[in-house]
Amino acid sequence: MTDQAHARAVRRQAMVRLGLFFVVIFAVAIAVIVGGIIDVKPKALQEEIRSTGPLAPLVYVVFSGILGALFVPGPVMAIAGGLLFGPWVGIPLGLLSAALTAVVCREISARLGRNAAEDLAGATLGQLTAWLDRYGLVAVIAFRLLPAMPDAPLNYAAGLTRLKAWQIGVGTLIGSIPRTLGWGLVGASAGGGSNWLAVAGGALIVAADAGGALIAILAARYLGISPRALIRRMRGQPAEHAASPWRGQPDPGASPTIAPMRIAIDGPAGAGKSTVARLVAANLGFTYLDTGAMYRCAALASLRGLPPGDVDVDFDAEGAVYLGGEDVSLLIRTPEVSSLASQVAAEPDVRAGLVARQRELMSQGDWVAEGRDIGTVVAPDAELKIFLDADPLERAQRRADQLGADVQEILAQQQERDERDRTRQTSPLMAADDAVRLDTTGMSIDQVVAKIAELAKSRGAAA
Ligand code: DC
Repeated sequence: MTDQAHARAVRRQAMVRLGLFFVVIFAVAIAVIVGGIIDVKPKALQEEIRSTGPLAPLVYVVFSGILGALFVPGPVMAIAGGLLFGPWVGIPLGLLSAALTAVVCREISARLGRNAAEDLAGATLGQLTAWLDRYGLVAVIAFRLLPAMPDAPLNYAAGLTRLKAWQIGVGTLIGSIPRTLGWGLVGASAGGGSNWLAVAGGALIVAADAGGALIAILAARYLGISPRALIRRMRGQPAEHAASPWRGQPDPGASPTIAPMRIAIDGPAGAGKSTVARLVAANLGFTYLDTGAMYRCAALASLRGLPPGDVDVDFDAEGAVYLGGEDVSLLIRTPEVSSLASQVAAEPDVRAGLVARQRELMSQGDWVAEGRDIGTVVAPDAELKIFLDADPLERAQRRADQLGADVQEILAQQQERDERDRTRQTSPLMAADDAVRLDTTGMSIDQVVAKIAELAKSRGAAA
């Protein structure tokens, strides 16, 4: 069996195992609820729980935990809490049970389904897992705030990721506040409280749904996500494009310059190359090439036990990076890959292959390419060469702000990578003799972009 056929067979088996896992959970849910093991009608639930006297709060939490895991929707529990205990006790208990349910579901699926999910990770879940690793607690809160998110499937899905139990618990507790409060007030009103409680609860639920939808739209805009692209990305499929310039097929007839122009931007990590290069490309209508992403793909391939010198790297019009057709845009940004990338980039064979590909891409049309050796090796005859640099502490601070990490830790990693990039035998990081040196310390991104665009225009780019 070829490697690809084997990988497909493993994924198919993993999907069957995951499918079975959910079928079993559904079957238990139907047996318990439809079979009448627990009567979920509010009145019956209320009586059953109330009959346990002082143990009622505990019984409520346990019952709602079980029912929540069996796909009974969260609002049912929240209403029951308000109904039984009034708003002051019922709502906190409702929140506690939502958090506990989430943690219990996570544990169940982590134990029974994680292996299957990991077999699938290369395809469907890899990207999602990388997102969740990055956003952790915030991701859980955000998912909980979204309207119309089914609780139980979300809880079980969490167990298939690397999210930790505390992130699920705390995230659920915080993210469930608006709706549990709303439904709890509705329940408290039905349990004998004022009608105004129901009105306030209803208003809160509508506001929570509208607010959640708004947050989702704003977050998607901020992160540059279109739902369709996200689904494709999570599936590891390339975005739809016919002959996107990202794939190195720019239309020479559409060149915004009279003669093709290449702008080379080199510099150490954190100097702002990628942000600046991307914006300069957008500003001038050029195509952006992130050569660092190619070395990162080589590192990821190496981590997967594949030869790093023979990687098939591709880009799409939205800036996503593909390794052998799989979207790895986020996977290549982990600290593990960053560190390995600078080691892999020191290997002459790896460089030879990637430099050839970069030259091929840049052979037609207008480009802004950024990396470490663009002006010295990849395109020594580039029309404009920039060497971007900044004070090491400022560079580390920018990265730390982006990643939410400790600046001293980033500074130490950065020094190590810079040293390796500068001292390697093959194509070390250095400025070309004719490069324009730009120290961006204290400069805003807009200022740097404007400066480079101005230089480009003075050398022939269309104004
Ligand atoms: O720019 P970056 O951090 O994404 O680059 C990842 C690694 O690849 C970095 O350690 C330097 C190396 N690299 C290189 O050697 N030559 C390039 N043209 C681009 C990146």
